[in-house]
Amino acid sequence: MCGIVGLIGLENVTEGLVNGLSHLEYRGYDSAGVYVDTPGAASFTVKTKGRINDLRQEIEKTGDVTGFRGIGHTRWATHGKPKTENAHPHTSYNGRFVLVHNGVIENFKEIKDEYIKDEWLQGETDTEMVVHLVAKIAEEENLSAKEAFKKALTIVDGSYAFALADKEEPEVLYVAKNKSPLLVATGEDFNGVCSDALALIELTNKFVEIKDKEMVTVTKAGITIEDLAGQAQEREAIEFSITANDLALGTYEHYMLKEIEEQPAVMRNILANYVNEQDEVVVDPAIVEAVTEADRIYIIACGTSWHAGLVGKNMLEKLAGIPTEVHLASEFGYNTPLLSEKPLFIYISQSGETADSRQVLVKTNELGYPALTVTNVAGSTLSREANYTMLLHAGPEIAVASTKAYTAQIAVLSILANAVGMQKGITAAQNFNLKNELSLVANQMDSFLNSDHHLQTIVHDMLLEARNAFYIGRGNDYCVSLEAALKLKEISYIQCEGFASGELKHGTIALIEENTPVFALITAAHTNLQTRSNVQEVESRGAKTCIISMEGLEQEHDALVLPHVHELYAPLISVLPTQLIAYYATLERGLDVDKPRNLAKSVTVE
Ligand code: G6P
Repeated sequence: MCGIVGLIGLENVTEGLVNGLSHLEYRGYDSAGVYVDTPGAASFTVKTKGRINDLRQEIEKTGDVTGFRGIGHTRWATHGKPKTENAHPHTSYNGRFVLVHNGVIENFKEIKDEYIKDEWLQGETDTEMVVHLVAKIAEEENLSAKEAFKKALTIVDGSYAFALADKEEPEVLYVAKNKSPLLVATGEDFNGVCSDALALIELTNKFVEIKDKEMVTVTKAGITIEDLAGQAQEREAIEFSITANDLALGTYEHYMLKEIEEQPAVMRNILANYVNEQDEVVVDPAIVEAVTEADRIYIIACGTSWHAGLVGKNMLEKLAGIPTEVHLASEFGYNTPLLSEKPLFIYISQSGETADSRQVLVKTNELGYPALTVTNVAGSTLSREANYTMLLHAGPEIAVASTKAYTAQIAVLSILANAVGMQKGITAAQNFNLKNELSLVANQMDSFLNSDHHLQTIVHDMLLEARNAFYIGRGNDYCVSLEAALKLKEISYIQCEGFASGELKHGTIALIEENTPVFALITAAHTNLQTRSNVQEVESRGAKTCIISMEGLEQEHDALVLPHVHELYAPLISVLPTQLIAYYATLERGLDVDKPRNLAKSVTVE
C-alpha cells in the first residue's frame, strides 16, 4: 500500500528518494511523486501515474531536480482514481505547504465542507483536504507550520502517516502518525522518514519508531518527538538487522521465485531460532504459559496469513489440545462471536501492519485479553501492541504474493503448538519429534524444488486457455487449496476457487464444463480415496484434472508425487507446486509476477 520516503540534509536527496520509493514498490501502488527543494533555490514537484520508472523519466524531462530536502510517495488509490492529479505530494492552495500521506482521512467530507474552497482542489483525494487545512490554519491564525500542523491533526480523524514540508522553513520536515506505519531514519549527516525501513536501508540501519498521535520535527541535525499535547518524548534509535542484500534479486528474475526457493532455508532458520542444542523446542515461557492457560484460541488474520491460520488450527488442536477458531480480521472486528471465558488471541501477519487485524487487536487489548502476534517484522505495529511476539525469521518478503511467509507461519505455529503440548503433557506432542520432522520438511522441500517436476508443462496443458480453475482437497489439503487458489488468482488473474472436494457436488459442480482445470491435492491417507472419487466426478463431467499426491499415496496417472513428510507438515510441501503453478501461469500470460494489479503487500487501510 502507499509508501512514504523523506530525506533532509544530503547534498542532493532526489536519488535517495526515488531509490527509496523503488524499494517500496513491492507494497503495491499506482502512481508516484516527489517534492524536493533547497533553501534559497528552486523547488520541484514531479508526479505521475504509473511506475517508479515513469517517475524517473518525468524527473529527467523536468531537468535539474536537485534538493537538500524532499518527500516522496507511492500511492495506492483509495479516494479518487489513479491519475497524476491524485498522486502525492499535494500542494496547498497558496503554494506554501507540500504533503504526502498514507492512510485514510475518515472525516475528509466534513473538513471539506467546513474549511475548504472548491477552487483549491486539484484532484479527488482525502489528503488534499489536509494540506489546505494546514495552510488555512497557518494563514488565518498566523501560526507557525508546526502549530498549524498540530492544530490540523486535532481536526483530522482517521489513519495517517504524514510528511509535511513548509516552503518558508526549508530546513525542516514535519511528520506525524496515527495507525499507519512510520519510522524516522537517522544517519550520519542526514535524517529521514519512511513507512518501511526497506526504503532507506541502503543509507542507514538506524530507525526510531514513532507512536500513534506523535509528531516529529526532523532536521539535518536531529529529530524531536512530541505528542499532540506538546510533551517531548525521548526514544533511542533501534538498529535493524535487515541489510541492502536482503533486497537484492541476485540471479533471479522475480522476487516470487527467489522467495519460493528460499523456503527450505527459512525452515532451517526457524529451527535454528526455536530449537536448542539438546533438540528441545524453545519458546518464551511467558508465551507458553499464556497459551496453556487459555481455554480457547482465536486466530485473527487476513489473506494468506488467514490460510496459514487454518493449518495452524489443526496443529494447535492436535498437538496442544486447545480448541482453536480462525477468523478473518475484517469480519471479526464488526461481527464478534461469543467468546470463551479465557480466550487468547493469535494475530498472524507477515507485515505486522495490516489495518484489519490491528483494529481487532485494539479491541481485544481494550477488553484485556492476552494477544500473541506471529509476524515477520520485528517492531511492527501488531508486534508492539500485542503482549507477546513470535517472529517468522523468514527475511523480508518482497513479492506481493506471499509464499515463504505462509510456510514460515505454519512452521512457527507448529513450534508453539508443540511447546504448549509438551508443557501440558499431550501425548501427540510428546510423540512428535519436531526437530526431525521439520528438518525433513526442509530437505524434502529442497529435493522437490530441485527435481524435474514438469510444472511448466502442466501449467501449459492445464491453464493456457483457462478463464477459471479449481483446487480441491479435504482437511489440510482443503486449507492448502484455498491458498493455492488465492495465489493463482492474485497474480495470473485466472478466476480460481479452492474447494472442499466433498462439497463440490452440492452446487459448485454445476460450473464444471469441458476442459475446466481441476487440481486435486491428496496428502492424507484417510481422505485419499474419497478425494479421488471426487476427481472422478468432475472428470466424468469433462474436467481436465491434475492430481498432486504424496509419496505412499500415489496412483498411476498422478501428475505429480511429492516427497513424503509427516502428515501434520504436508501443507509445507503441497503448497510448493501450487506456488510454482501460479508463478508459471503468470509468466505464461506475460504478467507482472511481483507486482500484480490492484494489490498491495501491506494493507494499512481497513
Ligand atoms: C495483503 C497481501 C496478502 C497478505 C494479506 C495479509 O492482502 O497482498 O498477501 O496475505 O495482505 O497481510 P499480512 O501482512 O497481515 O500477513
